[in-house]
Amino acid sequence: MPEVKFLGHSCVAINSGDHKLIIDPFLTDNPKAGAKSEDIDANWVLVTHGHGDHIGDAIAIAKKNNATIIANFEICNLVGGEGCKFHPLHIGGGFNFDFGRVKMTMALHGGGYGPDASRYTGPATGFLVYIDGKTIYHPGDTGLFYDMNLIGEMNEIDLAFLPIGDNFTMGIDDAVKAVEFLRPKKVVPMHFDTFDIIKADPKEFASKVTGCDVVILAPGESINL
Ligand code: NI
Ligand code: MN
Repeated sequence: MPEVKFLGHSCVAINSGDHKLIIDPFLTDNPKAGAKSEDIDANWVLVTHGHGDHIGDAIAIAKKNNATIIANFEICNLVGGEGCKFHPLHIGGGFNFDFGRVKMTMALHGGGYGPDASRYTGPATGFLVYIDGKTIYHPGDTGLFYDMNLIGEMNEIDLAFLPIGDNFTMGIDDAVKAVEFLRPKKVVPMHFDTFDIIKADPKEFASKVTGCDVVILAPGESINL
């Protein structure tokens, strides 16, 4: 039974026995982070795209823990150049790891690394993580896209994270539509309130969603699936 911990913004840790995954570990520069980068214990670091609020502390965490970074081919080349272990995937492709399967999904968003996001990091992505008999969907940063319907049709999603902060990603109303498409059992809102420009009320999101449990997690809080 995986424990899923929300660490603020889009950072999610998934722990299942000896398998410790962390997705989009933006901690050091996140004023509302639910953990410190140096305290993270991880074997696998998944990165959805090259923007600083997602790749964040990935390189430091991977090096300290001798963890492997899972990301698109372009980001893997970048982190490989920094001395990290990596496993490249690309959109539509999945791989069976020792902890379970990861499939890379599309996202409607940009990519780019560095202070001005000028280093090419390929398209933004999301992940379907299949672990311990559970399916977790982390879409990264994205606008609403109709293929979420296909993702929902082809997967029984136990838990989906969805951005609700608007401006750079889906806002609340589009995230409500995404829940309709994905049909997850549970949904956790993310990517809001970290900065003033993405302020959103997760209770408004919860009040608009039907047929799915909305679980509002503060940074540092977790649920067991
Ligand atoms: Ni982004
Ligand atoms: Mn972002």
